Amino acid sequence: MRYYVEDLAKHVGEKVDLKGWAYQTRSSGKVKFLELRDGTGIVPCIFFKGECDEEALTAFESLSQECSVKVSGVVRKHPKHENVFEIGAQTLEIIGKSENYPISPKDHGTDFLMENRHLWIRSKKQVATLRVRAEIVKAIRDFFDGRGFTLTDAPIFTPSACEGTSNLFETKYFDEKMYLSQSGQLYMEATAAAMGKVYCFGPTFRAEKSKTRRHLIEFWMVEPEVAFNDMYDNMDLAEQFVEYVVQRTLKNKAEELRVLERDITKLAPIKGPFPRMHYNEAAQLIAKENPEFKIGDDFGATDETIVSSKFDKPVFVHHYPAAIKAFYMKEDPKDPGYAMGCDLLATEGYGEIIGGGQREDNLAILEKKITEHGLREEDFRWYNDLRRYGSFPHSGFGLGLERTVGWICGLPHVRETIAFPRLYGRSYP
Ligand code: 4AD
Ligand code: MG
Repeated sequence: MRYYVEDLAKHVGEKVDLKGWAYQTRSSGKVKFLELRDGTGIVPCIFFKGECDEEALTAFESLSQECSVKVSGVVRKHPKHENVFEIGAQTLEIIGKSENYPISPKDHGTDFLMENRHLWIRSKKQVATLRVRAEIVKAIRDFFDGRGFTLTDAPIFTPSACEGTSNLFETKYFDEKMYLSQSGQLYMEATAAAMGKVYCFGPTFRAEKSKTRRHLIEFWMVEPEVAFNDMYDNMDLAEQFVEYVVQRTLKNKAEELRVLERDITKLAPIKGPFPRMHYNEAAQLIAKENPEFKIGDDFGATDETIVSSKFDKPVFVHHYPAAIKAFYMKEDPKDPGYAMGCDLLATEGYGEIIGGGQREDNLAILEKKITEHGLREEDFRWYNDLRRYGSFPHSGFGLGLERTVGWICGLPHVRETIAFPRLYGRSYP
């Protein structure tokens, strides 16, 4: 039988074998302590002369940080703390040596930690973050799967640019020029016509040539698309979705958020309805505090923070000037010059986590936009077909997974929200 640290409560009084890594060791007089980490948790193993065999005491002397070990002993309840267990160790076997493990409890610089990311992920906070990420992924799937959406994943290789040409990752598809997908949206618009409510969830790529705390080169995005939803329905969906993801993570990953020292009182109020404002209203708020901002500009990180700092819930900004938005956004016939796009800005300065809106469903207007944006008509033939054969109003959005994980975990930078981040200037390990 395999025993794991997370199951020890079920085995009090029994003798168990545990396999894992030496997290920390210390000795005081006749007692020696090994904190054993097995990936499911950390448990103190207590070596007491007389209780354990002589070889165990000898082996203990050659333990070093992160060497792999097997410990046998009896599971005991901690003398003082409820629900805390320890092992009265009897034997110790070293499985794999670890000499001069590079990451010690002292402070290391970020570059050093990133260079050793493959080892850094063993640390408590990194483990907690990756567990929260996995919970968020599950919550995302459960939300959509539980509401009649069908997962229809989009291709990674794509001939058509969705989000502008400036940060496209160009590659080869045999002899053809091809791009890595910036977004699965265009394909979801096609599957939405087949299945009504669809989503894709996978990696997307943008050659962002800037180092910021919220841009990755490869990031994961979940993109629902719903036939016959307008921009307002789209905001309702995004609001229910974000509330669900945050509240479920709070409920299921309380211990991890504690390890991360997340102030969860800031997440508790993340429940709909979220405030909504027209671009012009947000722009006026920004102009008051940022003299460099001109009405009509897109928002930078500081501008988003100016808007979101007014609320303890995420805030939607809708009706951006059409000129600063993607070619596929529908201009509001009732509000000319403004696109029916809606972005969601997270609390506490985490910025835009969702971008989305209502899509242009008029063929003539769309064709004009494609040309105006300098895109090649022939790459969008299939896309325009969706307007030729039973065009339908439809809306959707994309939520960036890493930004959401960073926000929920309260992290200063997206680099810690994915096991092996791809950043501008870093693609190792
Ligand atoms: O606002 P964006 O560019 O929207 C789209 O791609 C739409 N086609 C989505 C849709 O409507 N189906 O990106 C959506 C979200 C952003 O709000 C942000 O959370 C995240 O994707 N994102 C990034 N995350 C990390 N690194 C980057 N470089 C990102 N670029 C966008
Ligand atoms: Mg955006």
